[in-house]
This record gives sequence, structure tokens and C-alpha cells, in this order.
Amino acid sequence: MTFLRASKSQNLTGTVTVPGDKSISHRSIMLGSMAIGRTTVKGLLEGEDVLSTAAAFRAMGATIEKHEDGTWTVDGVGIGGLQEPDDVLDMGNSGTSARLILGILAGHDITCFLTGDDSLRKRPMGRVINPLSEMGATFESRAGGRLPLMVRGAADVLPITYELPMASAQVKSAVLLAGLSARGKTTVIENKPTRDHTERMLTHFGGEITVEPIEGGGNKITVTGQPELTAADLVVPSDPSSAAFPAVAAAITPGSEVVLPAIGMNPTRSGIFQTLKDMGADLTLSNERIEGGEPVADITIRHAQLTGIEVPEERAPSMIDEYPVLAVAAAQASGKTVMRGIGELRVKESDRLAVVAEGLRANGITVEEGEDWMIVHGTGGKIPGGGTVTTHLDHRISMSFLVMGLVSEKPVTIDDGQPIETSFPNFLELMTGLGADIAPL
Ligand code: S3P
Repeated sequence: MTFLRASKSQNLTGTVTVPGDKSISHRSIMLGSMAIGRTTVKGLLEGEDVLSTAAAFRAMGATIEKHEDGTWTVDGVGIGGLQEPDDVLDMGNSGTSARLILGILAGHDITCFLTGDDSLRKRPMGRVINPLSEMGATFESRAGGRLPLMVRGAADVLPITYELPMASAQVKSAVLLAGLSARGKTTVIENKPTRDHTERMLTHFGGEITVEPIEGGGNKITVTGQPELTAADLVVPSDPSSAAFPAVAAAITPGSEVVLPAIGMNPTRSGIFQTLKDMGADLTLSNERIEGGEPVADITIRHAQLTGIEVPEERAPSMIDEYPVLAVAAAQASGKTVMRGIGELRVKESDRLAVVAEGLRANGITVEEGEDWMIVHGTGGKIPGGGTVTTHLDHRISMSFLVMGLVSEKPVTIDDGQPIETSFPNFLELMTGLGADIAPL
């Protein structure tokens, strides 16, 4: 474990490029592996989670390489063309790898064994096992549908219509990816819109997919099975979830001005930026454009005194990974910030509701917390700090509390910086380059 400590910092300034989007990077390897031909990917996130996905698809017969100019290529084997791996597939810390790969494997007539690290082995897989079993795959897992597990794909996948019981892009994607192997149309109904990178990328690869809005704001998504996916080049935007860390750091550190170019602005992902604006952040977008089927923009963010708000509950899926760092912004704000409809935080890399509340309290912040809500009482710029936060193998907990240390009266320590490698390998370098005082203990 690497202890890291963040201390009160002067104004953060500069222009920094945040690494590629994690969700899109995973999908580029997955769909590239199932397409015919060579997909070239620019801006792939080279974090541990995406490398776990790449290792899994290599083990199943795809050719995935990094080239000298930094681009990656994926030579696919076509839908249904993956081979049985010789060994257990280790998904490391990555829930997206595990759940989406289970969807893909459900449509392959092979047997695979999956495992993951201490965090991933605690996370529920029943949410994908249930619909994928309906489609004909069989599973043997530890109690409660947890890894390690064995999946045996179906020789003939049944197309189904599945209404998501929770707002989850991973479950939606798992069913749609299994549907690629089915004869006929597979439909997923989501009552709350979740990130739609799978849908966009399938269209980009020539798949047949329709998205119909339904009453109440959700979508009915239908994929036609057994298409021929054709390799298509991709440019991965910078990850809005990673951008949220320097963005919040700049918003709360007096005198700051930070520019973050080419950040993914997909509306199913960008809720944090609207929320920061609602709290009074000085955040502007420029150079808005579409790259590789995804909206992107440059973000400029300057310090401003933030005020607590009630975050609209319906916005939760579009910023689900950003609540930990939002809680830090809320601690620095004046007044209270109310967050509701966030029960899904309990099944992320850690129980983020409990771990965020514990970390805030350890640093002198008053927090109220229920099964699916949290209220942070802002200090109006006087976060006491001085605490040590247990990160529970959760990269976003590590980064969030390091951001908090930049403005607190006493330094904030995290017990483990290693998990940051999963999604934002150059976080330390990038933040210190802006002027943040973060260093190993
Ligand atoms: C992801 C979906 C979300 C998110 C995760 C990435 C994806 O998970 O929290 O970091 O790439 O599909 P859920 O589907 O569990 O909400």
C-alpha cells in the first residue's frame, strides 16, 4: 500500500490532458475483438482496468497491440469467433470488464472461469447472471452470484426482452452484447437513461441497433443479432469521470484556473459539470464538437465559492461515479448538499456511500447518510482535514480525498494510492503539474 498525503495548495493553473475514457476504452477492445478487420484506437486509456480487458480478449484469440505512435490496434475474430481461454480470466478491479465480458461469453459456446481482486470478488454479478441465464447461458458462482465464477455460453442464444431492475449501463450492455449472438432481436428497457457508449459504438461498427425514448425519460433499445460488425477506427475522448478530479480541485482552490481539453460531454455522463455549475462553479465549455460519434468539449474552470444544492435525483445515472468527488466539493461549499437516489453507490469498487461518509467524518465534516442518500454539511471553505482515509481498493475514493487535502486546514492522508492505476495512471503527475501538493508519505 502506498500512503499519499495532500496538503493545502496555492492556486492550480495550467492546461492538462486527462487520459482516455474508461468505458469507451473497454468497449473499443470488446467490439474491436468481435468485428471483422483491424480497428485502430487513438487515446485508449492504458489503466489497469482496460489492460485487464485487453488481456482477456488476447487470451480468447483477438490480436491487440500497442504501436510506437501510441495508437492501439485490435484485429477481431468476428461475432461468435472467440476461443476458450486456457486459463482463468482475471478481471482485476474492473466491474465493467467482468460484466460486459460475461455478456459476450454468454453468446459463445465455450466455458470460462472469471475472477477478480478482493474488491471485485465482493461485487454482485447476479444482476447479469439473471438475464444471461434467461438467454441460455449457465453459471456456477460463489454464494450471492459473486466471483470467482464459471460461465458456459449458449450454443443458441435466446433473444429476450429485459427490463432493467436498476439503472446500470453494465447490465444493459451485457444483455445487448449477448444479443449480438442471438437469432432475432434482443430488447433492453431502461427506465432511467444510462451511459450509451455501447449503443453508439455498435452503430459505429455497422451493427443494427435502435433506441426509442419511452414515457418517463427512459429508452427501449433493440439490437438485431448476428450482424457482421466491421472494424472502424476510434478516437477515445478524455474521460469526464477523471476530469472531474482536476475540475473540482480547481473549483474549490482559491485563485485556480485550469483548462481540460477534449473531455467527453456525452449527456449520459456529464451530470457532474451541470451540478458544479448549479453550485456556482465558474465552468465554461468551448470548442464543442463530435469526435468518433461522441460529443467532446474543452472545459475551463476557475475557482468560485460554491453553495450547497439538492442534486436532482434523475441526474444520478449521468454522474454516478462522481458522487465521491462531489461530496468533497460539497464539504468546501457553504450550506448543505443533498444527494438522493444513489443506492447504486453501495455496490461500486467499495460501498461508496459508507466510505465517503467515513472519510468526510475522519476529516471533521458533518454527514448524514441513509440507505440511498447522503447529506453533506458544507464548511464554507474551512474543511478541518487531518484525517487518514481508508480507500478499500477504490480509485475514486483515493483521488477524491487527495483533492480534499488541497484545501483543508490540515493535510489529508489516504492509505492507498495504488488503485489510482486502474483509471488515471498519471493522476499524481498531472495534479502536481497544476500546482497540487500531493506526495508519498
Ligand atoms: C460503467 C457503468 C457504471 C459505472 C462504471 C462504468 C460502464 O456502472 O459506475 O464505472 O462502463 O458501463 P453500473 O452499470 O454498475 O452503473
